[in-house]
Amino acid sequence: MVVVFLGPPGSGKGTQAERLRDEYGFTHFDTGAALRAEAASGSDFGRRIAAIIEGGNLVPLEVIRELVVRFLAGCDSDRVLFDGFPRNLDQAEVLEAGLAGIGDDLDHAIFLQLSQDALLGRIVNRRICASCGAIYSLVTSPPPGGMCPLDGGELLQRKDDTPEVFTNRLRVYMEQTVPVLDLYRNRGLLREVDGARTVENVTQSILRVVGIDGVGDGA
Ligand code: AP5
Ligand code: MG
Repeated sequence: MVVVFLGPPGSGKGTQAERLRDEYGFTHFDTGAALRAEAASGSDFGRRIAAIIEGGNLVPLEVIRELVVRFLAGCDSDRVLFDGFPRNLDQAEVLEAGLAGIGDDLDHAIFLQLSQDALLGRIVNRRICASCGAIYSLVTSPPPGGMCPLDGGELLQRKDDTPEVFTNRLRVYMEQTVPVLDLYRNRGLLREVDGARTVENVTQSILRVVGIDGVGDGA
């Protein structure tokens, strides 16, 4: 099964992807996390990527294509989840070609919906673990002791989690990613999920629309 998570910044894609990875056997490919790791490497290329992310713009298609091709070449899971990809129509073509190359196809495009005000509230209150990338909220899941309970890592605020950069990320989303929603809607692949409910309720809705039953079926 191949699933993509689409939705504006802060809608809960990463939070839900962590749960599907940890409890339902999905292999999770998070383009944002992969790019942040590249940015943190300190290479010249990494610095260029960091500048793009910190401005809230999309990195070039060829960079994404290479990440995706490498991921698909090393992936033998029968449950695959793309988080934050594809983000425009060119990337949707990259996905289609990549999946065709391994004899597969997209099954579900999950669209997490949330109001703009709620998005900004989530963005400015998000913290991530510097070492494992786990996602927390100062409001709904504040980590005890101010460190990651999974590995003791330092908690950081992403540099693109400011109101100013959020505004640009949302603009880019509206201009470039909304057409991808339309594409998948026309193909009958779009599954709209209300992202404003609790994390657990959203997970249950996603499981329902992709046809997975039960709690933690361990596949
Ligand atoms: P990326 O990291 O993908 O950022 P994004 O799409 O803007 O989405 P976010 O990660 O900000 O939000 P999310 O939906 O994952 O929400 P989360 O679960 O964390 O991309 C960053 C940048 O990388 C891009 O701007 C671009 O520069 C580049 N990039 C990435 N992919 C690219 C691509 N394909 N092409 C080109 N460039 C690319 O949740 C947010 C907060 O809310 C957390 O604090 C969480 O705890 C909380 N929360 C989550 N769910 C709930 C809930 N149900 N109730 C209450 N709180 C909740
Ligand atoms: Mg994310």
